[in-house]
Amino acid sequence: MPCDVPEHVTVDGDRLWRSLMELAEIGAYEDEQTGLRGVRRLALTDADAEGRRKLVSWMEEAGLTVRVDAVGNIYGHRAGTVPDAPPVMIGSHIDSVATAGAFDGCLGVLGGLEIVRTLNERGITTRRPLMIAAFSEEEGVRFGTDMLGSAVAAGRIPLEEAYALTDADGLTFGDELARIGFAGPHGVRLDPSPYAYVECHIEQGPLLFRSGTDVGVVTGTQGISWQEIVVYGHAAHAGATPTEMRADAGLVAAEIVRHLRTMVDSGDYGRLRATVGHLTLHPGDTNIVPARADLKVDLRNPDEECMVRAEEHLARYLDRLQETQNGLRITTRRMARTSPVAFDGRLQKIAVREAEALGLTHSSILSGAGHDAQEMAAVCPAVMVFARGEYDGISHSPREYSTVESCARAINLLAATTLSLADE
Ligand code: GLV
Ligand code: MN
Ligand code: MN
Ligand code: MN
Repeated sequence: MPCDVPEHVTVDGDRLWRSLMELAEIGAYEDEQTGLRGVRRLALTDADAEGRRKLVSWMEEAGLTVRVDAVGNIYGHRAGTVPDAPPVMIGSHIDSVATAGAFDGCLGVLGGLEIVRTLNERGITTRRPLMIAAFSEEEGVRFGTDMLGSAVAAGRIPLEEAYALTDADGLTFGDELARIGFAGPHGVRLDPSPYAYVECHIEQGPLLFRSGTDVGVVTGTQGISWQEIVVYGHAAHAGATPTEMRADAGLVAAEIVRHLRTMVDSGDYGRLRATVGHLTLHPGDTNIVPARADLKVDLRNPDEECMVRAEEHLARYLDRLQETQNGLRITTRRMARTSPVAFDGRLQKIAVREAEALGLTHSSILSGAGHDAQEMAAVCPAVMVFARGEYDGISHSPREYSTVESCARAINLLAATTLSLADE
């Protein structure tokens, strides 16, 4: 059956912006350090539940058939002229980190919704069905594993394993999902597998901003390695314990942080990035030598072999530290690990072609951040496009910002790429 897809479908950038700003009101907080208003909508919190309900109501208003799967992923289905054809899926996430802006993840989901609204207005039915997806716990900050919902949908992480993950208070993912009413009745398997997966995200880095380029076509994502390190020392009196008699977990934690930076600066591990984003000392009192330090380490690397070498080096370093420091014990626990993923070459070419047809300046970018697209790439051909962020593209910060125009450009590219694939 022929389908009626005009050459360019441009979305309503103002309507997209209003939806982004409305969603950002849910979980909004005043950031003390910057004085800015940020977003804090961690996965499966009450704020996330409210955001999910808002999204579902918007999807239903747009005529989508909504389905929630057993890991809480939300799918909105729009029929195509060939009803049983595998759909083109447009996805991302609406959970956020603790210091977020309005765009990370939300742009991809609400951009998909905006494409549907635009197609509805123009009376356009695509050949293939479209699916808008909002995946659970992409950020991984609450339950410790990132891209969790998409990893379960893609079959990499078993559902039971996801349910058993706990947050800092010992609450399980499974219980919290049920509590907020989003443990859906549908299985997690995507049947049929999507024909293709497309995702738009803000870049979260400085390349587009610094070069003044309109959009990015993403070549792939780098590997991510998250581990928790616990250093056990001995609590002791801060004033009365001689220096040489201490097993100071805080000092050792500081040495680990410094050592990671030395590894990065050495250049021996390719384009390694290393961050200790979580460090707590116990019992955490001024006059007590720390008995214990908890660290969470985030390593990123576009090269798997370099990543493995960095992980092995860190493990050896921790063994040595343990042996040479008096009375000290170190344990490690892997939290999350993904390898670098290359996005589909043909889909990248389509996105580049559509960027040119839209008159957008574009460049190819390797993503610094992790995205649901890297999980979906195991199931079907996948590609991403990046919107330009302001202020050097800063993200995971209330300073995260983009403009109406930058968002609209990237979603127009997402629309063109989607329509091209949905017509195949
Ligand atoms: C999530 O945004 C990540 O890349 O850590
Ligand atoms: Mn994101
Ligand atoms: Mn993020
Ligand atoms: Mn991410």
